[in-house]
Amino acid sequence: MTVNGLPMVVPASDLPERVRIHEVGARDGLQNEQRVVPAEIKAEFIRRLADAGLTTIEATSFVHPKWVPQLADAEQLFPLISDLPGVELPVLVPNQRGLDRALALGADRVAVFASATESFAKANLNRTVDESLAVFAPVVRQAKDAGAHVRGYVSMCFGDPWEGAVPLHQVARVCTALRDMGCDELSLGDTIGVATPGHVLELLSLLNEERVPTNMIGVHFHDTYGQALANTYAALEHGVTTVDASAGGLGGCPYAKSATGNLATEDLVWMLHGLGIETGVDLGRLTATSVWMAAHLDRPSPSRTVRALSHKDQ
Ligand code: HMG
Ligand code: MG
Repeated sequence: MTVNGLPMVVPASDLPERVRIHEVGARDGLQNEQRVVPAEIKAEFIRRLADAGLTTIEATSFVHPKWVPQLADAEQLFPLISDLPGVELPVLVPNQRGLDRALALGADRVAVFASATESFAKANLNRTVDESLAVFAPVVRQAKDAGAHVRGYVSMCFGDPWEGAVPLHQVARVCTALRDMGCDELSLGDTIGVATPGHVLELLSLLNEERVPTNMIGVHFHDTYGQALANTYAALEHGVTTVDASAGGLGGCPYAKSATGNLATEDLVWMLHGLGIETGVDLGRLTATSVWMAAHLDRPSPSRTVRALSHKDQ
């Protein structure tokens, strides 16, 4: 049942009171788009996301421009948005060069991105897992010395398109390495969207056993098999309070075949608000933003909530 485009609120017990949404639409969402979106449109997208109440908006990546041409305008984009009040703007940095570029523009939140599998480390970073961790260690240290907050992504936590099942201890090894380097936060990536809720709970429990506290863990689900919300609910039950999502369900990873869009932020907000969990997000404004972005990309949003809310009056 909807009341003025909002879900009916029926809380469930033992869930967090508030969830911090780490919005990745402008980075993970757009990075796979073939047609280059102008920096001014990206900036407008980010401003609209902020206006909808999102306070952590991953802005772009300082990666090699040939590897991700869509985000080659990071230097142009970042100054257009860096004055947004009260908004955290994390950016991805794959190495020292990326960190130098980000710090030169005044970025104060950066994310390194590791892989739990060798195949994806090679495809995404042109390094083995251990080589990429060796690249990250001084980057994390230097970012911390510069006063930046550092997130450590771990991709392919639940399955890999080349290697199949990924042993949990392999994921835990990369997570603990990033923790030991000094990352403030980890984000567990289900890059190809194959996770199911029991698998999520098993990984979270193992990480706790390995002394990775739940309050430093975020979850990053892609929605390939329609499991992203179920997986999120499992993570919330475990106590996770940081959830990555992409406005309108945009997304995919150019270096992982079969990666589709992230969990749509609107679908997440609908569930969280229905559970009485605060997010600070205005669902109507967010939906309008995704409809606006979909028009620029010339394709409808895959988010069920965006579709339902934008068609409800027709
Ligand atoms: P490489 O070819 O091994 O680079 O790529 P290199 O270190 O050998 O350097 C080669 C040249 O690139 C040098 O220039 C460097 O200066 C330059 P030259 O001396 O030949 O003129 N270079 C750079 N230029 C600009 N910015 C940089 C940079 N680094 C080197 N940062 C590299 C290695 C890491 C650069 C490359 O593999 C890369 O850029 N990869 C990025 C891939 C990417 O962005 N993937 C998507 C994000 S991850 C993701 O989506 C998953 C996530 O959402 C979680 C999930 O869903 O699981 C986070
Ligand atoms: Mg991703």
